[in-house]
This record gives sequence, C-alpha cells and structure tokens, in this order.
Amino acid sequence: PNARVKRDQQQEAVVVDGTSFSLNGDNFSYRFHVDNDTGDLLSDHFGGSITGDIPIETVAAVNGWVGEQGRVRREFPDQGRGDFRVPAMRIRQAEGYTVSDLQYQSYTVVQGKPPLAGLPATMGSESDVTTLIVHLYDNYSAVAADLSYSVFPRYDAVVRSVNLTNKGTGNITVEALASLSVDFPYENLDMVSLRGDWAREAHRERRKVEYGIQGFGSSTGYSSHLHNPFLALVDPFATESDGEAWGFSLIYTGSFSVQVEKSSQGFTRALLGLNPSQLSWPLGPGETLSSPECVAVYSNNGIGGMSRRLHRLYRNHLMKSRFATADRPVLLNSWEGLGFDYNQTSIYQLAQEAADLGVKLFVLDDGWFGDKYPRTSDTAGLGDWVPNPQRFPNGLAPAVRNYTAIVTANTSSHLRFGIWVEPEMVNPNSDLYHEHPDWALHAGPYPRTERRNQLVLNVALPEVQEFIIDAVSNILNSADITYVKWDNNRGIHETPSPSTDHAYMLGLYHVFDTLTTRFPNVLWEGCASGGGRFDAGVLQFFPQIWTSDDTDAVNRINIQLGTSLAYPPSAMGSHLSAVPNQQTGRTVPVSFRGHVAMMGGSFGLELDPATTPEEDKAALPGLIALAEKVNPIILTGDMYRLRLPEDSNWPAVLFISEDGSEAVLFYFQTNPNVNHAAPWVRLQGLDPQAMYSVDGNATYSGATLMNIGLQYYFDSDYGSRVVFLERQ
Ligand code: DGJ
Repeated sequence: PNARVKRDQQQEAVVVDGTSFSLNGDNFSYRFHVDNDTGDLLSDHFGGSITGDIPIETVAAVNGWVGEQGRVRREFPDQGRGDFRVPAMRIRQAEGYTVSDLQYQSYTVVQGKPPLAGLPATMGSESDVTTLIVHLYDNYSAVAADLSYSVFPRYDAVVRSVNLTNKGTGNITVEALASLSVDFPYENLDMVSLRGDWAREAHRERRKVEYGIQGFGSSTGYSSHLHNPFLALVDPFATESDGEAWGFSLIYTGSFSVQVEKSSQGFTRALLGLNPSQLSWPLGPGETLSSPECVAVYSNNGIGGMSRRLHRLYRNHLMKSRFATADRPVLLNSWEGLGFDYNQTSIYQLAQEAADLGVKLFVLDDGWFGDKYPRTSDTAGLGDWVPNPQRFPNGLAPAVRNYTAIVTANTSSHLRFGIWVEPEMVNPNSDLYHEHPDWALHAGPYPRTERRNQLVLNVALPEVQEFIIDAVSNILNSADITYVKWDNNRGIHETPSPSTDHAYMLGLYHVFDTLTTRFPNVLWEGCASGGGRFDAGVLQFFPQIWTSDDTDAVNRINIQLGTSLAYPPSAMGSHLSAVPNQQTGRTVPVSFRGHVAMMGGSFGLELDPATTPEEDKAALPGLIALAEKVNPIILTGDMYRLRLPEDSNWPAVLFISEDGSEAVLFYFQTNPNVNHAAPWVRLQGLDPQAMYSVDGNATYSGATLMNIGLQYYFDSDYGSRVVFLERQ
C-alpha cells in the first residue's frame, strides 16, 4: 500500500527542472525526464505524491543495457529502434520506412487548457488547469510530435493528447496513434474494463495483467456496446474503497484500441487511442493529425475514488450543456409503450396520461416521420425527416401545441415535448436514398450490407453534415421542441478507406457542435441501441445518454453500476418500464423498478399507462415525486458503490451531495432471504463527527453509520429502500 501523501500546496501543477518534468495533483505526481544520451523521454513515476529528487531505475545499469529502448520505461514509444513492445505511434514514410526517432526539443507551459481542433476535449480556466506541451522532433523524417499534458490538480487528473505534424516535403501515413501511453514499473496489476453487447452493456471485467499483450477495442466505427473506451489498472488488492487505482478514459466516440502489455522485464505498458486497424491517415506537408484526448486519474482510495474523480471532472470540465447539473424533467418515452404502433389519437392519449401521472416531458420516439416511405416499421423512412401525414395531418407544430397545452398533474406547468431522431442513417426505402445513393457508406463494388434494414450515411462528407444539420434544425425550428433523443442503431461496415472511420467522427463532432451551439436550450440525449455510444466524446455535447435497451431493473443495477465506473450517474437515462420486462420477461415490483431507475440522472417512464395494472399505476405519482426529490443529489453528488450486485444479494449505493448536507441510500435485495440474518451496509464518505438524521427518524453519527451501518429486512425477493440522510 502507498503512503497517502498530500501535495505540498506550494508545489505547482507543472514543474520543469532542466529536462525533468513533474506534474502534480492534490494526491498524485507524474514524472518523466529526457535521456541525455538518446534524447528519448523516459517515464519515472505515475502514482502517489512525491517530492524532490527520485532514485534512478537501476535495471538498465545493472545489466549493462544502457541505451536499449526495449529495457526502459518510455513516455511516448515510437517504433523501429529496438523497443519491441507495442508502439504509441507508427508512421509510414513515402519510402516505406516505419522507423521513427522522436527526440526532445523544447517545452511550453500554458495556464488553462487550449482547445483540441475538431475533437471534444476537457475545458478549464487558468485556475483549474495547467498545460505542459513537450515538443519532439524526428530529424530524419521531419515529423514533429507535440505531447500535451493538462493537469487538473483538484481531480488528480492529467489529460493527454498528441499532435503529429508533417514538417517535411513528402507525404506520410499515420498508421497508429495512441492518445496516452504509460509505462508502469515492475509490479503486479489487475486490469478492469467494461464489456458487453446490445442490451447487456458495461459488465465489469477484472483480470490479472499477464506477460504479453492483452487488450480490447472497437472496430465498429463507434465506441460500441462490445467494449467501452475505458481502462482501469489497479493494485491486485484494491477494492471499491481502498488501494491504488488508475483510471483511463478516452474522450472519443469512434473505433478505439486499448492495449496492455507486460514486457519481459515486468514493466506494464498501457496504450489508449485510435484503433490502428481502422487508421491509415495521410498527412501531406504541413498537415497535422490530432489524437483524441485521454484522461488519466489516480486514486489512492480505491476504485470508487477513481470513479468519483472522473465523475467530478466530467461534470465540471467536459459536459458543455447547461443542463449538465440542472434538474432533469421526469419524462415518458413512447417506445416501450407503443413502439411503432400508434395513430394521432393514441399518441395524444399517451401524452395526456403521462401528464396525469406527473410526467413533465413527453418524448415521441421512433415512427413519427416519412411521407412517401412512412416509418411505421423499421423497414422504411430513415432519412426523410418530415412528419408522417397520416399521423400528423397538419404537421408537427399544431400537434406539439396540443401536447404542450396539457397541464401536468399537481402543477401549473405545461407538458414539454421531445422528439427522437436517427440522422446518421438511411433506409434504402426512402426518398433520401433514391436521391443520394452515394451518400451511404460503401466500398466500391462490394454489396452494401443492411442492418436493421438500414445503411449508414457517410458523415465524413461535408454535404452529408450539412444535410443533417439542416434536417435537425428544421425539425427544431418547426415546433416547440425542448428535448432530442439522438439514436444510432448499427455499426459501420464497408468503409471506402480505413481513414473513413476517424473522418466520420470528425464530421459527426462538427454536426454535434453546430447543433448544440445553435440550440443550447434543447436537452440532448445520446443513444445507440441503448448504450452503444456511452462515452466521454458524446458527453461533451449531450449531458445524458440512454444507458441500455435492457430496462429490467435487476439487470439495470449491474449495467448502471458498471457504467458508473467511468461516467457520472447524472449522465444516465434510466426508465421504469412495464412488466413482464420486454427483454427478460421478468416481473419485479414497481417500487424496485422505480428505485433502480431513479439512480440515473434522467428518470423516466417507458410504458403505456392505459395498459398498466391499476396497482402499479397508483404507485407512479409517488415514485415520480421521490425521483424528483433525489434528482439534485444524483446530478451533482458523489457516488459510493457500497456493495456490488456481482458480489452481494444486497447491492447498495450511496450518493452524498456536494456540500455533504444530504445523502440518499439505495438499498436492494434481489433474492429472497429466508430465516437468515441480513448484513449491515456500512456507509462511506460521511463526516464521522457529524450527526445525520435517517429518514427523519433516528439520528446517528457519521462514525456509527460508517462503522455499524444500516440494515433492512424484506419479506420477499426484489425488496428495495430509498433512505434519506440529513446532516444535523
Ligand atoms: C433503439 C433505442 O435504444 C430505443 O430506445 C428506441 O429509440 C429504438 N431504437 C427506436 O427505434
């Protein structure tokens, strides 16, 4: 275990001593230096705070390997000169060489955080963040690499990206580029990642880092359900609350790669960045390729501490939306309730019933558009963003006027209206496809494979970007629409070139940036068949993302807690749906469904009240009121995963408001507990000296609540409690 050393407050975030670089946060230091013999950057430390001189790693000197690149820890490993581990970049020169020799030139320090051209990035003022840029240069190929390190000291975070510039006269091709590369010393580590598939996203996977290469990634064109662009390296003994944990989160929505290599000397290298299998990026003279950013946080209080640092950083320095930490309206989404099967009357009735229950925002999901090719199933209409005249004979504006005239129960406020779109896609059965078949991604003569009967528009093309921006702007200008759910329901196949993948993403970010800047009062929600694009790139623009198409409450505990490893709960869309559940067939009580759903920042209903059993329906207004009460704490509070569903029959989560004055405990029992004691759940993160009232009844000290805890009994399976704590 490390000694918990706090930063000497006098120590600057960035300290440069000759050619030694030191980055310092409240609880961490990151050090590297220039090797005087080779001009290479060598890594010294990423971990708990250190001060002053440091001992030199002796393995090379002892074994006579001085100058051997494969035997040292390197800060930005280029390739071709004896480091046989995975490189952080590979450049193919016009002559075919893939050797690079990037040597240290100089550095720059800037207060604040320069933007990253065309890519989502963390942001901060001069008092929040300091940036060190280290300039490297390859004299043989005339390629420059600028490594950017932005230190957010209060978050124990350093954010890295790389700019590669061709300063020569010939063309080169970038074939690999990692945003972040880090070489750890010889020690045992575990790696934690999030894997899954459609409707079972974000399953936590923990395994030992073994000798050799292990990794994961996405080549789907999107961050994907399969693997999330997030990695944690942790001490093998680290738990949720104790031990060292390093969290790495890539701010990117496209294909990515995460590689972890334990080398012959026992060093562990971690690389996160663009996926080399989807990259072949030509750089002409004077051109630059910027990598996405990768955030690295250090925690000396376990995996939970790592997540809380990421959550705070993302809420305060990544999410641009004005709603990032603002209360979210309780919504009802039409998808699970009515699907494609509605008409003018039944959809209005759904909105009316939602408002009667206390819902504040009605979301019209798929099926509202398409004229000649009406979208009444998933076989037609994508691309034709005009209201279906059968369903909306007078267009959207009068219909929306009707919806927003409805007053929601027990308030004087009017129902708000939101809409679903999937603008990156086209059905071959559409006017758009007939007009612009070439806009759909395709690779020459190869067949265009359809998934869910649809093709992907080539968002790398400026004309496609303009089409999407215009189509969505027209919808938003046509009626009083204050919420958009932006869906995306298939992966990219048959790209014309490997670089299309990244070019698509740059185009998509341009579209997101333009639209969210143009419509700042719209609450945007991301979605990709559920959580297929739950990533930090999307969060820059959209403050919430639909977490999964699996709304089964038991599965959702797992999915939501998995997602929370990297992303703030405030960003999760989570809805109470009907039973038996559409994906799993399971029936659980309405209170359990509601309690799980209100652990996400955007709580909603996904059912048809007209077919909801009376008993469940009667419980909905109370659950909505409770969700509204806990919402501010979920949106800005710190999350403690007290017990994980994979470890316990009694998963529990605590949220503590930023100022520590309020907390809310979610306590669940999944299986029945017959004739057996139930364990106490010990709380975390409270002030041991302070007194807390528990649900307005008993009052206990923080010390008692953290060292004894609370205990609840249920007389059946699927028991749940939401418990309020107020600091006295
Ligand atoms: C997939 C989404 O995840 C669902 O919530 C729903 O919007 C459907 N698409 C609509 O086609």
